[in-house]
Amino acid sequence: MTNTRLYINVDHVATVRQARRTDEPDPVEAAVLAEAAGADGITIHLREDRRHIQDADVDAMAARISTVLNLELALAPDIIDLACRVRPYQATLVPERRQEITTEGGLDLTADPERVRGVVTRLAEAGIRVSAFIDPDPGAIDAARELAIPAVELHTGHYALAWRHDPGTLQALRDAAAHARQLGLAVHAGHGLTYQNVGPVARIEAIEEFNIGHSIVSRAIMIGIGAAVAEMVALVKTT
Ligand code: PXP
Repeated sequence: MTNTRLYINVDHVATVRQARRTDEPDPVEAAVLAEAAGADGITIHLREDRRHIQDADVDAMAARISTVLNLELALAPDIIDLACRVRPYQATLVPERRQEITTEGGLDLTADPERVRGVVTRLAEAGIRVSAFIDPDPGAIDAARELAIPAVELHTGHYALAWRHDPGTLQALRDAAAHARQLGLAVHAGHGLTYQNVGPVARIEAIEEFNIGHSIVSRAIMIGIGAAVAEMVALVKTT
């Protein structure tokens, strides 16, 4: 066992709930179960379109979990305000485009560095640790360092798509992790990691934190559906 931290992203528990706009499944309940199973932290992304996690979930999550909350957020003023009020342990800055299915690329820290600097300063002054979700690219890492961002989350999406046929995507993560560590940044990783592809990335020593969601929620459905059906069979067939 290493000291690597695993934070569980429960956004897609909320995705299922929002499909019906009802109160189940509850991402907070899922987070508490994830903690009981060994999760080191809980990650949620309050998207501008509120497609899964809702504002009330953020408050409820912060109140109920006993590990730490990592709130993913875009540079949107109302969401920054909410973060400064709730004060999660960590805020991870992510890019957001409304039409995307999920976060499709790392945050470009060079497009409007003064805006990023302002947000980083505000979050840091609220006592929140700041991380930035960036592509595994030396320039992006240097930009994070210049903006005094203490941690970077390396986007593993390209690796996740190409790992079977392109070893270069793993090497890019190794190189980026080493570069960030050398600059004194904490190194996190996530996006698209699965039970099949996580192993080689988990062996990159410089990476200290993983954020994984979709694959775990998917697996939970498959592991849990048998027991869930059996409970309903018992109700339908005995009453
Ligand atoms: N890290 C970041 C910054 C993300 O935006 C996401 C997706 O919300 C994840 C990690 C988790 O990705 P996945 O759900 O594919 O495991």
